[in-house]
Amino acid sequence: MSALANLLLAHYDQNARDLPWRVGPKSPPSKKINPYHIWLSEIMLQQTTVGAVIPYFEKFTSRWPDFKALAAADDADIMAAWAGLGYYARARNLVKCARIVSNDYDGLLPQNEDGLRTLPGIGDYTAAAIASIAFGKRALVMDANIERVVARLFAIAAPLPKGKKEIKAALDDIVPQERAGDFAQAMMDLGASLCSVKNPKCDQCPIHALCSAGQSAKAASFPVKAPKKTKPMRNGMAWWIEYDDKVLLIKRDEKSMLGGMVALPDDGWNARNDGDRTLKIAIKETQIEQIVQHEALVQHSFTHFSLKLKLTSIELVQDDALYEQMSEKAIWWPIKDIDQAGLPTLFAKAVKIKKDENEKGIL
Ligand code: ADE
Repeated sequence: MSALANLLLAHYDQNARDLPWRVGPKSPPSKKINPYHIWLSEIMLQQTTVGAVIPYFEKFTSRWPDFKALAAADDADIMAAWAGLGYYARARNLVKCARIVSNDYDGLLPQNEDGLRTLPGIGDYTAAAIASIAFGKRALVMDANIERVVARLFAIAAPLPKGKKEIKAALDDIVPQERAGDFAQAMMDLGASLCSVKNPKCDQCPIHALCSAGQSAKAASFPVKAPKKTKPMRNGMAWWIEYDDKVLLIKRDEKSMLGGMVALPDDGWNARNDGDRTLKIAIKETQIEQIVQHEALVQHSFTHFSLKLKLTSIELVQDDALYEQMSEKAIWWPIKDIDQAGLPTLFAKAVKIKKDENEKGIL
């Protein structure tokens, strides 16, 4: 094994984070690597921090302890349990993947990258992470943390995202044959602790002596990044429609953003367009007790755009005509149970505006 891998793994043996899915130096000998846990954690960790993932990981594994249990769960329960974690396509793929593994593979994951990549929700990164961490296969695991560590080690000047190829080739030079999973996790931990984006702690780093950028005191200048495009701002509207202590929720179209999630009705905003400012449910004036346009705007940032959402509350006196229009996609949800509806964060923010104004006696 190279000097670099030796130094890094020795540091990992002393300093590894104790994470619930991880079998590391701090784990009891009885704890065995569980591929279901590794898979679930890696899906949850896509674009999401370890701190945010841990409670969701605990909730999912205690409720659905293996692939077969998850495969047998109701989609709606899984979507609701995922609420708040974001990037909901992951939850839809999670269910699909669990069902394939359960039905076609008798509940056991394929063990190599090619087999893993055929499954929904598993791309190059996740296939490499699972193959190495769950099955000890040598693989090039490159998340943003590892990318930063490698860019600094070799002082790679090509700006991201184009520089990725060069960084991956450099990673290929240092990944060892043995302990490939530990090596990947050691690199992740280093990137999440000492080799931070700002103010890296090079004086404490176990591989400082081998780090090109570190040796010239330039670690913080890597990775080099191409200038960022600013995110477009979209505007949309959402409606809180209330009748008989219940609020109208709809299940979003599978193909739209936040597809399959339960949400407040809205005006069809998306990544490319503002909403058209119309409610897609016809309400007669005679049905309406009161309408309130809320002052506070919901602000939310998605990966490719930001959204400002205006919230309107409508209180109904009767809901006859509404019932006729309602497909199985819409439900009257008891307002007292709104926190259990599994609303994605954007709509949970809208509910918070409602609650705050209720408390202030505005409504
Ligand atoms: N981020 C993605 N996968 C991870 C893992 N296995 N450990 C720590 N952070 C991670």
